[in-house]
Amino acid sequence: MSDSPYILFDEWQGDYARRTKVMTTSAVRDLFAAASRSDVISLSGGMPDTHVLPLDQVKKLTTYVYNHYGDSVFQYGQTGGLPELKEEIVKLMAELGVAIEPRDLFITTGAQQALSLIGESFINRGDYIITEGPTYLGALNAFMPFEPRIITVPFDDEGMRTDALEEVLTKLARAGGQAKFIYTIPTFQNPGGVTMSLARRKRLLELAHRFDVLLIEDDPYSRLRFAGEAVPAIRSLDDNMIYLGTVSKIFAPSMRTGWVVAPGPILDKLNMAKQGADLCSSNFNHLLCLEYFRQSDWHATLAEACGLYRMRAEAMLAALERYFPPEAHWTHPEGGFFVWVTLPKYFDTDELLATALEHGVTFVPGRGCYPRRGGLGGNSMRIAFCYESPERLEEAIKRLAEAIQDRLELYRAFIKAGVIRE
Ligand SMILES: Cc1ncc(COP(=O)(O)O)c(C=O)c1O
Repeated sequence: MSDSPYILFDEWQGDYARRTKVMTTSAVRDLFAAASRSDVISLSGGMPDTHVLPLDQVKKLTTYVYNHYGDSVFQYGQTGGLPELKEEIVKLMAELGVAIEPRDLFITTGAQQALSLIGESFINRGDYIITEGPTYLGALNAFMPFEPRIITVPFDDEGMRTDALEEVLTKLARAGGQAKFIYTIPTFQNPGGVTMSLARRKRLLELAHRFDVLLIEDDPYSRLRFAGEAVPAIRSLDDNMIYLGTVSKIFAPSMRTGWVVAPGPILDKLNMAKQGADLCSSNFNHLLCLEYFRQSDWHATLAEACGLYRMRAEAMLAALERYFPPEAHWTHPEGGFFVWVTLPKYFDTDELLATALEHGVTFVPGRGCYPRRGGLGGNSMRIAFCYESPERLEEAIKRLAEAIQDRLELYRAFIKAGVIRE
């Protein structure tokens, strides 16, 4: 969301680097600024519910960090992160079936920084990279300044469609091209909510090997499962790839603490890029994360959060069933934060957002989750169930359905008049 207060004439317009051209905020995002009215229910944000955190205990841990670690709390840390926290992350990864050592990982200022460092270290102008379509807007923001050509591969209920991926890779190879990397969010995808099946994960690895393309698995949500069976992390099936993790959804986004697991040479390159970006992440935050994982019953806190997310997802899915028109369809997540809704082709969710705001609800229009604000995603939207109560979610979906109904009537009249085709 754009929070820039500067909307004045820009006398430096001609001086900015070419890469800033892709950084403009969209008119749609500016609409969100209007969404701060207290009567508007937001389905746009993908924020974890931090109310479940044991605040008293976190306060005590904060004091503990000051008392126990003294003035080192205020110092620079190592670029690769606090060694003791790396050991703790090794344990977190072991719980996901990924056996690594501290030297296999590198701590970043959120997984977001890892995406940016990867962009900087790998992408030359014009390089091909492959992502799911739709994909995480923040990844697009991180990659696009390096001017890649982004090819999107659609997903279905089993995650990224590996048949479509194979087609893309084959076409590229025939044209003498080669993708730099494939970026995937296989579990509870953002924005799709879908999870890649084990068979697809294996197929994806096969294709990455066959076409010699680096694979990046971004995994902020896999611990937020509230239904169904866990699927192994792709990194548990292969060592020769990049894996991204974060504490944002299992502890707190304000810690700005994420990590990269990758082969040594890649970690070296990212380390150099990080030195240029911020020298190191916050030592204090690393110490607090360390003590949170060591001393608190964080698995229980997370289980409580997942219980809430489950109730909210159920409420949202039931409301969608109840209020949305039969023309709409949507994904059925077993965890994470998001549902992806697809409306008939003639719908434009950028326009729908304006109507939805009048009805007191916001969402993320689908186009923003694709690299080019062209045709793709124009009839879809991301709605998040992570933050609001079941009652508010039901109300939000009801309002959204009313907004859809308003426009549906308009579109039906257009169809009847032959202005648009069904
Ligand atoms: C898929 C994905 N990757 C990365 C991030 C960034 O995470 P962090 O808070 O660790 O920077 C997010 C945040 O929502 C995300 O959804």
